[in-house]
Amino acid sequence: VRVAVLYGGKADEHSISCVSVGSVLRAIDTDRYDVLPIGITKDGVWIVDGEDPRAWSLNSSPLPTVQETEHSRRVVLDPSAGALGFMAQNADGSVDSLGAVDVVFPVLHGPYGEDGTVQGLLEMMNVPYVGCGVLASAACMDKHYTKVLLSAAGIAVSPGFTLDARKADTVTGTAVEAQVEQEGLTWPLFVKPSRAGSSFGVTKVEWSDDRGERQARLAAAVQEAAEHDWRILVEQGIDAREIECAVLRSTATGEARVSWPGEIVLDSRASNADSFYDFDSKYMDASASHVEVPANLPKETLQRVREVAARAFDAVDGMGLSRVDTFVTPDGDVLVNEINTMPGFTAISMYPKAWEASGLPYSDLIATLIEGVRR
Ligand code: DAL
Ligand code: MG
Repeated sequence: VRVAVLYGGKADEHSISCVSVGSVLRAIDTDRYDVLPIGITKDGVWIVDGEDPRAWSLNSSPLPTVQETEHSRRVVLDPSAGALGFMAQNADGSVDSLGAVDVVFPVLHGPYGEDGTVQGLLEMMNVPYVGCGVLASAACMDKHYTKVLLSAAGIAVSPGFTLDARKADTVTGTAVEAQVEQEGLTWPLFVKPSRAGSSFGVTKVEWSDDRGERQARLAAAVQEAAEHDWRILVEQGIDAREIECAVLRSTATGEARVSWPGEIVLDSRASNADSFYDFDSKYMDASASHVEVPANLPKETLQRVREVAARAFDAVDGMGLSRVDTFVTPDGDVLVNEINTMPGFTAISMYPKAWEASGLPYSDLIATLIEGVRR
């Protein structure tokens, strides 16, 4: 089976995708799968024959990126040619077919990868691919619309509201605080870009007794989020543990499986153990945290998380895979925070770890995902 693996991409999460693909390419069973790695630069240029991603990991410094080299060739797409539509352009301008591809595995995080755009391109080319389709990918990339769909399905989400940073008068510190009061949200608050991942642009905003200071903090947080998206969420911080669940669904059979829920446990020496699980604690200081599966919770709570994760995956029309991130309150209530349709996929990431602890080792997981695609 010939598998084209896409990595890199135009999103802020470019390097995270490169790290994910390093693990995938080291683990994929090459007796069974003929792998064609296709990198996408930050500018959106698709290439083959660039730097070998198998050496890439979280220890790479600086974090890896896809770059054109003197040996790399640009990939030209011919949508009318279907699975044969991947061509490599030679230095003299001639093109070579890269041959038939049976399945594409888009190991891409964030916009232009995890948001339905690549999925739509592959649909147009009649190429089967791993993971969620256009609708679920687009809906889950956008935290606002994820909440709309989940709420409609009766699944609890964090209280909050959405802002449009293009309307300047609605995103001043004064205006945002007025809306916080009107909606009855309690502090601390989280301000997030609607379409981003890996905690890019997310700020935890703490209370201050000084009104001017509170408004300044809100305005700064909104400005930070607006670097990533004009659609911005303001959410009430929940007193809860973040519990994550891995879901798999075969497109071929429709059968869905849900892993044991896991938790990222920050070691006390982590630089921001008192803060939240931001980009640095996720990736730059990854050794200061570890994944615990199943999470240390009563069995009935774990079961409830699994049920909610399965319902959430259904509510967004999930396929292939997703990691459903939930909040579990001290009373055992389960809220869904977000759904990641192409979750971090390094060997130490929650998604593969949760499957490993549920009886599905990493390379079998990759095979399961590929075999689950209807071809
Ligand atoms: N967006 C990152 C990759 C994750 O959810 O794991
Ligand atoms: Mg995410």
